[in-house]
Amino acid sequence: MPEIKSPVVGAAPEGARDPQAASRAVREMFTSIAPRYDLLNHVLSLNVDRLWWRRASRTFRHILARPEARVLDLCCGTGDMTFSLMRQAESGAPKIAGADFSHAMLQRASVKSQQRSEGVPVWIEADALNLPFPTGHFDLVTSAFGFRNLADYNAGLREIVRVLRPGGECGILDFGEPKGALGALYRIYFKEVLPRIGTVISGVRGPYAYLPASVERFPAPDERLQRM
Ligand SMILES: C[S@@+](CC[C@H](N)C(=O)[O-])C[C@H]1O[C@@H](n2cnc3c(N)ncnc32)[C@H](O)[C@@H]1O
Repeated sequence: MPEIKSPVVGAAPEGARDPQAASRAVREMFTSIAPRYDLLNHVLSLNVDRLWWRRASRTFRHILARPEARVLDLCCGTGDMTFSLMRQAESGAPKIAGADFSHAMLQRASVKSQQRSEGVPVWIEADALNLPFPTGHFDLVTSAFGFRNLADYNAGLREIVRVLRPGGECGILDFGEPKGALGALYRIYFKEVLPRIGTVISGVRGPYAYLPASVERFPAPDERLQRM
C-alpha cells in the first residue's frame, strides 16, 4: 500500500490551531445551528438528502435484516441517517445507536424519535475519537456527513475499526468535489449561494462558510479509501 502523502490531519475550522481546538469549534458550530439544521439540510440539498440517506442505508440491508446485529450511526446529528437505517431494518429490529458529541443535536434527534413509528434508537453523547464502546462490539458503523468534521481522520478510522467486530462493515457517506462543468456549477453553488442562504436561515455566520471549506479540504475519494 503506497504511503499517504497528504498533510491533512482532519477538519480545521478557521482559527483552530490544533485538533482539540478544531473539535471544540466543530461542536460549538453544530450546537449553534441545531435548531435550524434539518430545515437547512432539506432546503440546501433541495430535499435530495433523504435519497442519500436511503441509498446509503439500503447498501447495508443484509446486516440490518439480522435481528441480532448491532449498528452504530456515528456523528448522527439530529438522527436522519439513524432513522433511515431503522426503516431499512423493518421488522428485523437490530439494536441501533446514534452517537454525537453535540448535546443540542441529540436533543432534537430524541424529540424526533418520539414522533416516529420505526422504533426508538439509543442516543449516546460521545466523541467519535474516543468511543465509549468495547472493542469488536458492532456489526456495522455508518457516518453520514459527519466523518469529514473529525479533527483527526486517521484516529477516527482507528476508532471505527476498534469498535467493529472482525468482518464488520463501515459506510461513510460524504461530499466530494465533482470535476468538469458540473464542478464549476457546484463551486458557484457551494461557495457563493449556499453560505448566504445558510447564514440567513440559521441566523449564524460561519458554519455555512465552513461547509464548502471542509469539503475542499477533505481528501479525495481515492485517498479516503487508501486511508481506510
Ligand atoms: C453535518 S452533521 C451530520 C448529521 C447527520 N449524520 C446527518 O446526516 O444529517 C455532522 C455531525 O457530526 C458531529 N460531530 C463532528 N465531530 C464529531 C466528533 N468528534 N464526535 C461526535 N460527533 C461529531 C456534529 O456534532 C454534527 O452533529
